[in-house]
This record gives sequence, structure tokens and C-alpha cells, in this order.
Amino acid sequence: MVGLIVARSKNNVIGKNGQIPWRIKGEQKQFKELTTGNVVVMGRRSYEEIGHPLPNRMNIIVSRTKKFEGENLRTASSVQEAIELAGDADVYISGGYGLYKEAMPFVDKMYITEVDTVVEDGDVFFPEFDENDFEKEIGETGGDEIRYTRTVYTRRGSAAAIRYRRLGEADLERFIDLRISQLTEEYVSEGRKLPEGVDLKAALFDYYHRHMADGTFVSWLALDGTKIVGTSGMSFVEKPPYFSCPSGRLGLLSSMYTDPDYRRKGIAKTLLHNVVEEARAYGCGAVQITASDMGVKLYTAYGFKHNGNFMQFNLV
Ligand SMILES: NC(=O)c1ccc[n+]([C@@H]2O[C@H](COP(=O)([O-])OP(=O)(O)OC[C@H]3O[C@@H](n4cnc5c(N)ncnc54)[C@H](OP(=O)(O)O)[C@@H]3O)[C@@H](O)[C@H]2O)c1
Repeated sequence: MVGLIVARSKNNVIGKNGQIPWRIKGEQKQFKELTTGNVVVMGRRSYEEIGHPLPNRMNIIVSRTKKFEGENLRTASSVQEAIELAGDADVYISGGYGLYKEAMPFVDKMYITEVDTVVEDGDVFFPEFDENDFEKEIGETGGDEIRYTRTVYTRRGSAAAIRYRRLGEADLERFIDLRISQLTEEYVSEGRKLPEGVDLKAALFDYYHRHMADGTFVSWLALDGTKIVGTSGMSFVEKPPYFSCPSGRLGLLSSMYTDPDYRRKGIAKTLLHNVVEEARAYGCGAVQITASDMGVKLYTAYGFKHNGNFMQFNLV
């Protein structure tokens, strides 16, 4: 996740004479909470103003003229390079202007603190951006003589905008429609013609309804707003117990689906993880799936092993 943190005045000022033009008790708290244990990326001037790396987090300084190296301290020649250096960690772009400007087209989440003051003669401003690209949430207010309001802008369609929750009875209609179009696509892609007279909708409704009620089917959904953009499902079955699975319980993975517009954002991995954890909680000894070619990469990366013509992930 690429985040951005800034505090700006009512007239969009973020800096004056090399400093932040206000001092408000408690205002920096959010910055510390978000960045600790993660990666903070800042411009050379902002870094020199602080004078040392911030503790308990990786500091990446963006500069084309100087090199800063040390414990938890690196240098990159662009924001893009800083993000690559950070690997999988959450990155927070912390200013100033050039960094915000470069990051703006791809940042997932912006934590903007709106400071209730007008700064005359400011010399560094927050760049313009299109509010329509983001979902805006207004958070807490605080401050002393100068008040501030927290806001969070989440890019529409980005991984950060995706919410995850369990499938509920009220979702079944939409879930089943999605499942049928997915099954249809798979079936016809193998050159087969759909059989006539099969009412899969009623059969699926009956299956989900019964097995959700007795706890032998769970599913997780990924949602962008109210739109379902990904699903995963797990059915629980029991076999006579055996040595490598003394509970006899197995999880059968199904309904792994991510909307093509939302792929490559880590959604499938999160959905998979959530149902694997459900299987663990149910006491399953292993999870199995008959993987499609596309799925093999995801399951292999997660730790599944080939076992005959299906893939298996051992929980014990
Ligand atoms: N209100 C806030 O939330 C906030 C946050 C941060 C900073 N500030 C304020 O903003 C001011 C500092 O901001 P600033 O914009 O003047 O300086 P800055 O971004 O901190 O540092 C500027 C330097 O960073 C490097 N740089 C910036 N953008 C780059 C890019 N896209 N690619 C490669 N290098 C890049 C360059 O270093 P080289 O010249 O070495 O190549 C550039 O000279 C201060 O007043 C500070 O207090 C406010």
C-alpha cells in the first residue's frame, strides 16, 4: 500500500521558510502511528530539516544530489525507486511538494489533515488532485488555538478501497449469479455446450442455505463499495480419521474468483487466506483444491503442494 501523509492549511500551504508553519499539540500523533514499523519516504530538504532518521521505521530519502545511508536509512533518486526499495512494506510519502506530485497518480490512500488556518507567504503547497478519483472520509477533529480535521482519501478501485467480509444470507442472490456466470464461462471455455434443463440456481441456493446454516460452508467476499469483486469458498467434509489428519476433517476450496478489473492487487491471496484460516479454526487437517492453470501460481505461492491431480495445503 502506498500512502501519503500531509497537513495543509485552508489555502493549501504545507511549508514556509523550510518549516511546517504551525505547531499544534497532538497533530503529529497520527504520523507516528501510521509510519512506525513501516517505511517513510521524504524529500531531501524535509529530511535535512529533521536532521536524523525517524526511529523504529525505515527512512527512504529522495534526492538526486546526496546519499544518506545508515541503520534504517536509504536514499532513492525518485519516489518510484523508493517504493521499489521498500518491497512489500507499507510506504508513506511524507512530502514535500515534489514527492507528493510524483506519487499523486498512483497513491492508494491519502491522510490529509486539514488545518483550520490561513498561512500568508507560504512557499510550499500541496499539489492539485482530482477529488473524483478518491472516496473521502472525514475523521476526528482536534487541536488547540488552531483546530484541525483528519480526512482520508482512498483511491476508488484500489486495493486500499477493498473491504472483506463473510458471505451472508442477504448476499446469496448476487453471489449465486456471479458463481453461475463463472461456472458457465469455465464450462464453455472447454468447448462444451451447457446441458439443458439444469437449474443450477435453485440447487446452489439449496446447498449454500443448508451448509451455511450448519457451518459446513463459509465464504469470504471482497467488495468495492457494494460491488462484489472477489469471492472464496470453503466446504468442510469429514473422512474417517487417519494419521496425518486425526480430526478426519478436510476443507474443500471452491468459488475462487476475482473480477478481471481487480486482479493483481492481492485480493485473491487475502480471500484465500481468510478461508484457509476458517478451515484451521474448524479443525481441518488439510485444505484441497482441484486447481485451474491460473490458480496454480496463487496456491503454490501460498504453500499448497501438488497431490495427484489436486493441490493440498497441510494445516497440521
Ligand atoms: N505540512 C506537511 O505535512 C509537510 C510535510 C513535509 C514537508 N513539509 C514542509 O515542506 C517544505 C519542504 O518541502 P520541499 O518541497 O521544499 O522539499 P522536499 O520535498 O522535502 O525536498 C526537496 C528535494 O527532494 C528531492 N526531490 C523532491 N522531489 C523529487 C523527485 N520527484 N525526484 C527526485 N528527487 C526529488 C530533491 O532533492 P535534491 O535536490 O537533493 O535532488 C529536492 O531538492 C518544508 O517547509 C517542510 O516543513 C510540510
